Amino acid sequence: MKITIVGAGAVGASCAEYIAIKNFASEVVILDIKEGYAEGKAMDLMQTASLNGFDTKIVGVTNDYSKTANSNIVIITSGIPRKPGMTREELIGINAGIVKMVSSSLIEHSPEAIMIVVSNPMDTMTYLVHKTTGLPKNRIIGMGGALDSARFKYRLAEALGAPISDVDGMVIGGHSDVGMVPLTRMATRNSIPVTKFLSEERLTQVMEDTKVGGGTLTKLLGTSAWYAPGAAVSGLAQAIACDQKKMFPCSTLLEGEYGLNDICIGVPVILGKNGIEEIVELELTDAEKEHMLRSSEGVRKTNGLLEI
Ligand code: LAC
Repeated sequence: MKITIVGAGAVGASCAEYIAIKNFASEVVILDIKEGYAEGKAMDLMQTASLNGFDTKIVGVTNDYSKTANSNIVIITSGIPRKPGMTREELIGINAGIVKMVSSSLIEHSPEAIMIVVSNPMDTMTYLVHKTTGLPKNRIIGMGGALDSARFKYRLAEALGAPISDVDGMVIGGHSDVGMVPLTRMATRNSIPVTKFLSEERLTQVMEDTKVGGGTLTKLLGTSAWYAPGAAVSGLAQAIACDQKKMFPCSTLLEGEYGLNDICIGVPVILGKNGIEEIVELELTDAEKEHMLRSSEGVRKTNGLLEI
């Protein structure tokens, strides 16, 4: 199992680290345009191998796509991250050009790869990859919902005063502050609906804190977060590499599901060796449907800024 990560920034390096620690890939190639940077990150990570007990070989390369050849999974994290006060949508100008170029270079060398898109604005970048590479839809996966759901679970556990392992919950919709749809109605503590333990007011607070999860961290850190994004990507890669048939909310091209068409947005999917093997359609309430529709309108607005 060979995995390429484009972008040796904090998110890319964190993806490489978690993938290596989980020990399911034989090789991870990190590629960056900054001379020597990916090589440095790869060497530093390789020097943790004996300490962390993994056998994954991590290789860094400067812009040499031939070294990424025959990857099974390719992950795009490249582009600029958010600065405090910026929305993910504001990154589109620069990141669209980068993602277009990177995705076509990757596919040229790994025509069979499954692609995970992380660069922001993620739903629109996933849509752009669809429009420009022509890959089948099961092989293009946008990473957002897995991260947003992890942040949702963190906030739920905080509100409940419970350990995170007691909590389950999912966020669908667009990966943006206004677009996320945390499914509070379906969230549980040890299989019991959290609505039994938390007031509507507290749940609304959990929802709002979840939606601005990335922005809160950007404000604190001065740049976009990396540990949880890296861990979320590694979870998706592992589900594909190990054919786990695991469910995650991911951004995928919808063709009628959830009443939406010609858009990439977060919905629950089953991930296995073929990438997205199934889109899971949930019965949503009218309010949730309305929330999802508003979310899709936001994503479409950003898609409209693309020059395809
Ligand atoms: C975040 C970025 C990865 O939400 O979009 O932290």
